[in-house]
Amino acid sequence: MAWITKNSASQKVERRDQPYLTAAMKDDLTKRVLPRYEKSLGALLPALHMIQHEYGWVPHQAMLEVAAFLKIAPSDVIDTASFYEEYSLRPRGKYVVQVCRSIACEFCGHEKVTQAVKDALGIDVGETTDDGMFTLVELECLGSCDTAPVALVNEHLHERLTPERMVAVLAEVKAGKGGH
Ligand code: FES
Repeated sequence: MAWITKNSASQKVERRDQPYLTAAMKDDLTKRVLPRYEKSLGALLPALHMIQHEYGWVPHQAMLEVAAFLKIAPSDVIDTASFYEEYSLRPRGKYVVQVCRSIACEFCGHEKVTQAVKDALGIDVGETTDDGMFTLVELECLGSCDTAPVALVNEHLHERLTPERMVAVLAEVKAGKGGH
Protein backbone atom coordinates (compact mmCIF):
# COMPACT_ATOMS: atom_id res chain seq x y z
CA MET A 1 0.00 0.00 0.00
CA ALA A 2 1.35 3.40 -0.93
CA TRP A 3 1.17 6.26 1.52
CA ILE A 4 0.52 9.76 0.29
CA THR A 5 2.15 12.34 2.52
CA LYS A 6 2.11 16.10 2.49
CA ASN A 7 4.36 18.51 4.24
CA SER A 8 1.79 20.07 6.55
CA ALA A 9 4.44 21.46 8.87
CA SER A 10 5.60 23.91 6.23
CA GLN A 11 2.13 24.69 4.86
CA LYS A 12 1.56 28.42 4.64
CA VAL A 13 -1.64 29.53 6.36
CA GLU A 14 -3.35 32.41 4.58
CA ARG A 15 -4.17 35.02 7.18
CA ARG A 16 -6.36 38.06 7.31
CA ASP A 17 -6.40 40.76 9.99
CA GLN A 18 -10.01 40.16 11.01
CA PRO A 19 -10.56 36.97 13.02
CA TYR A 20 -13.02 34.45 11.59
CA LEU A 21 -14.14 33.43 15.05
CA THR A 22 -15.84 36.68 15.98
CA ALA A 23 -16.50 38.04 19.45
CA ALA A 24 -20.20 37.24 18.97
CA MET A 25 -19.39 33.62 18.11
CA LYS A 26 -17.13 33.30 21.13
CA ASP A 27 -19.82 34.76 23.32
CA ASP A 28 -22.40 32.31 21.96
CA LEU A 29 -20.03 29.38 22.41
CA THR A 30 -19.20 30.45 25.97
CA LYS A 31 -22.76 31.07 27.12
CA ARG A 32 -24.83 28.58 25.14
CA VAL A 33 -22.62 25.76 23.85
CA LEU A 34 -19.74 25.12 26.25
CA PRO A 35 -21.92 24.65 29.36
CA ARG A 36 -23.46 21.58 27.69
CA TYR A 37 -20.19 19.70 27.57
CA GLU A 38 -17.84 18.30 30.15
CA LYS A 39 -14.83 19.07 27.94
CA SER A 40 -14.31 21.96 25.54
CA LEU A 41 -13.71 19.42 22.76
CA GLY A 42 -17.48 18.85 22.79
CA ALA A 43 -17.98 22.34 21.39
CA LEU A 44 -15.77 21.68 18.38
CA LEU A 45 -18.52 20.61 15.97
CA PRO A 46 -20.80 23.56 16.86
CA ALA A 47 -17.85 25.95 16.52
CA LEU A 48 -16.95 24.58 13.10
CA HIS A 49 -20.60 24.73 12.11
CA MET A 50 -20.69 28.42 12.99
CA ILE A 51 -17.67 29.08 10.80
CA GLN A 52 -18.99 26.99 7.91
CA HIS A 53 -22.40 28.63 8.10
CA GLU A 54 -21.02 32.16 8.26
CA TYR A 55 -18.32 31.93 5.59
CA GLY A 56 -19.37 28.95 3.48
CA TRP A 57 -16.09 27.17 4.27
CA VAL A 58 -13.59 26.63 7.08
CA PRO A 59 -10.31 28.48 6.46
CA HIS A 60 -7.11 27.30 8.14
CA GLN A 61 -6.89 30.52 10.11
CA ALA A 62 -10.35 29.84 11.51
CA MET A 63 -9.32 26.32 12.57
CA LEU A 64 -6.36 27.75 14.47
CA GLU A 65 -8.63 30.30 16.12
CA VAL A 66 -11.08 27.59 17.16
CA ALA A 67 -8.24 25.46 18.55
CA ALA A 68 -6.90 28.38 20.58
CA PHE A 69 -10.34 29.33 21.87
CA LEU A 70 -11.26 25.79 22.91
CA LYS A 71 -7.71 25.09 24.15
CA ILE A 72 -7.43 21.96 22.05
CA ALA A 73 -4.81 20.79 19.57
CA PRO A 74 -5.05 22.25 16.04
CA SER A 75 -4.63 18.68 14.77
CA ASP A 76 -7.93 17.73 16.48
CA VAL A 77 -9.65 20.57 14.67
CA ILE A 78 -8.31 19.75 11.22
CA ASP A 79 -8.91 16.01 11.73
CA THR A 80 -12.55 16.75 12.52
CA ALA A 81 -13.07 19.40 9.85
CA SER A 82 -11.57 17.19 7.15
CA PHE A 83 -13.59 14.12 8.25
CA TYR A 84 -17.10 15.53 7.90
CA GLU A 85 -18.39 16.44 4.45
CA GLU A 86 -20.45 19.19 6.01
CA TYR A 87 -17.29 21.21 6.40
CA SER A 88 -15.48 22.49 3.35
CA LEU A 89 -11.80 23.34 3.59
CA ARG A 90 -11.98 25.30 0.35
CA PRO A 91 -14.23 28.18 -0.64
CA ARG A 92 -17.45 27.01 -2.20
CA GLY A 93 -19.70 28.57 -4.78
CA LYS A 94 -22.74 30.66 -3.97
CA TYR A 95 -24.87 27.58 -4.60
CA VAL A 96 -23.73 24.15 -3.41
CA VAL A 97 -25.31 21.29 -5.33
CA GLN A 98 -25.16 18.20 -3.13
CA VAL A 99 -26.22 14.99 -4.81
CA CYS A 100 -26.90 12.01 -2.55
CA ARG A 101 -24.84 8.96 -3.46
CA SER A 102 -26.05 6.53 -0.79
CA ILE A 103 -27.72 3.25 -1.58
CA ALA A 104 -31.34 4.24 -2.32
CA CYS A 105 -30.25 7.11 -4.52
CA GLU A 106 -27.61 4.92 -6.12
CA PHE A 107 -30.29 2.37 -7.07
CA CYS A 108 -32.48 5.15 -8.43
CA GLY A 109 -29.86 6.66 -10.72
CA HIS A 110 -27.91 9.25 -8.76
CA GLU A 111 -24.99 8.81 -11.16
CA LYS A 112 -27.01 10.18 -14.05
CA VAL A 113 -28.09 13.12 -11.92
CA THR A 114 -24.49 13.88 -10.97
CA GLN A 115 -23.43 13.52 -14.60
CA ALA A 116 -26.14 15.95 -15.66
CA VAL A 117 -24.75 18.53 -13.22
CA LYS A 118 -21.22 17.92 -14.45
CA ASP A 119 -22.27 18.37 -18.07
CA ALA A 120 -24.43 21.41 -17.39
CA LEU A 121 -21.82 23.24 -15.32
CA GLY A 122 -18.59 21.90 -16.81
CA ILE A 123 -17.18 20.89 -13.42
CA ASP A 124 -16.37 17.65 -11.66
CA VAL A 125 -17.38 16.57 -8.16
CA GLY A 126 -15.58 18.78 -5.63
CA GLU A 127 -15.10 21.63 -8.10
CA THR A 128 -16.52 25.13 -8.33
CA THR A 129 -17.48 26.95 -11.51
CA ASP A 130 -15.13 29.76 -12.59
CA ASP A 131 -17.79 32.38 -11.88
CA GLY A 132 -18.04 31.16 -8.27
CA MET A 133 -21.73 30.33 -8.66
CA PHE A 134 -21.85 26.55 -8.21
CA THR A 135 -19.96 23.85 -6.36
CA LEU A 136 -20.79 20.18 -6.95
CA VAL A 137 -20.59 17.75 -4.05
CA GLU A 138 -21.68 14.15 -3.54
CA LEU A 139 -22.63 13.17 -0.03
CA GLU A 140 -24.22 10.41 2.01
CA CYS A 141 -27.90 9.81 2.76
CA LEU A 142 -30.00 12.94 3.11
CA GLY A 143 -32.77 11.04 4.90
CA SER A 144 -35.18 11.18 2.01
CA CYS A 145 -34.66 7.70 0.60
CA ASP A 146 -38.35 7.25 -0.30
CA THR A 147 -38.08 10.09 -2.79
CA ALA A 148 -34.71 9.09 -4.27
CA PRO A 149 -32.77 10.28 -6.09
CA VAL A 150 -32.45 13.55 -4.28
CA ALA A 151 -30.13 16.54 -4.17
CA LEU A 152 -29.80 19.63 -2.06
CA VAL A 153 -29.18 23.01 -3.63
CA ASN A 154 -28.09 24.99 -0.61
CA GLU A 155 -30.94 24.35 1.85
CA HIS A 156 -33.53 23.25 -0.73
CA LEU A 157 -34.19 19.55 -1.19
CA HIS A 158 -35.11 18.37 -4.69
CA GLU A 159 -36.77 14.96 -4.84
CA ARG A 160 -37.45 12.28 -7.43
CA LEU A 161 -34.88 13.83 -9.68
CA THR A 162 -34.19 12.96 -13.26
CA PRO A 163 -31.20 14.35 -15.15
CA GLU A 164 -33.60 16.65 -17.02
CA ARG A 165 -35.21 17.89 -13.82
CA MET A 166 -31.77 18.50 -12.27
CA VAL A 167 -30.71 20.61 -15.25
CA ALA A 168 -34.00 22.52 -15.02
CA VAL A 169 -33.34 23.22 -11.33
CA LEU A 170 -29.91 24.62 -12.19
CA ALA A 171 -31.48 26.82 -14.84
CA GLU A 172 -34.02 28.09 -12.30
CA VAL A 173 -31.23 28.90 -9.86
CA LYS A 174 -29.28 30.75 -12.55
CA ALA A 175 -32.40 32.71 -13.43
CA GLY A 176 -32.95 33.58 -9.78
CA LYS A 177 -36.16 31.53 -9.61
CA GLY A 178 -37.24 28.70 -7.38
CA GLY A 179 -36.55 30.48 -4.09
CA HIS A 180 -32.90 29.33 -3.76
S1 FES B 1 -29.99 7.22 0.08
FE1 FES B 1 -30.31 9.17 -0.79
S2 FES B 1 -31.64 10.10 0.63
FE2 FES B 1 -31.20 8.21 1.55
